Amino acid sequence: MPFDERIEQALYAALGPLGQKDAPPRLSAAIPYAVFPGGARIRPTILLAVASACGDDRPEVSTAAAVALEFIHCASLVHDDLPAFDNADLRRGKPSLHRAFSEPLAVLAGDSLIVMAFEVLSSAGRAAPDRALALTGCLARHTGAPHGICAGQAWESEPRIDLAAYHRAKTAALFVAATQMGALAAGQEAEPWHDLGARIGEAFQVADDLKDALLTPDQTGKPSGQDAAHLRPSAVQTMGVEGAMAYMKDILGGAIASIPSCPGEAMLAKLVQAYAHKITMVPVAANRDVA
Ligand code: IPE
Ligand code: IPE
Ligand code: MG
Ligand code: MG
Repeated sequence: MPFDERIEQALYAALGPLGQKDAPPRLSAAIPYAVFPGGARIRPTILLAVASACGDDRPEVSTAAAVALEFIHCASLVHDDLPAFDNADLRRGKPSLHRAFSEPLAVLAGDSLIVMAFEVLSSAGRAAPDRALALTGCLARHTGAPHGICAGQAWESEPRIDLAAYHRAKTAALFVAATQMGALAAGQEAEPWHDLGARIGEAFQVADDLKDALLTPDQTGKPSGQDAAHLRPSAVQTMGVEGAMAYMKDILGGAIASIPSCPGEAMLAKLVQAYAHKITMVPVAANRDVA
């Protein structure tokens, strides 16, 4: 089954228990609203691609890991859009969750998704306890503090922001989780997969900064100009558009070289190449239009 179908089916199945009687109906509607329709699903796709490159001998475990990772990502978007953070009205082309439901439900839907992510991993532990334990630690490390998404968002509350540490934690952390969890789900070591995730993740955030500066909400499905509006440091603010593009291409150039040797190395190199092209193409095209 193609990765995208596998991801959508598994996400849908993992939300099944929300339909149970006696559950609060608005929270049960808010949680799927945060997950469907999805965005690019880039993190779970990378996770499954790495698992596949490593043999994917326990597909039920890699599928659970992909669901858990996407749940954390969806939760991070819901919380990121809240008035306490970016106060954004639009996400994935529709009203952000707190606009469609309410702020309390956005806090609770995000919280629930974070907890459900670990519940999905714990269920996978029945079949493969050692792998589930390693996956749980890996996902927790890249979600919380001191270096996960929570830490990344926390840089915005500091008087001075270290741009590299900010990008590494708020965005690259989940890409490192994607590559490392793919390896762990297939019974391999996590460490050799760090650099690939870190490079894709850092380039991805530079591309997001470029899109924020260059594209319109119709093109991205979310508000534009947010970094400038919130006085956030961004790759565009520190390096300019051309500098950010050169930097992004430079980071991606090293991504393929950082793929560890594994049975599916060639397949993975092709996929990373395709993603690198996709990540860079949109801001490059937009800049050409602006120029
Ligand atoms: C948006 O991530 C948040 C960032 C870390 C830049 P994505 O661009 O992957 O969001 P979706 O899942 O495709 O909507
Ligand atoms: C989002 O960063 C990172 C997380 C959600 C953790 P941004 O605030 O830059 O991302 P967008 O542009 O809202 O997607
Ligand atoms: Mg933000
Ligand atoms: Mg935001």
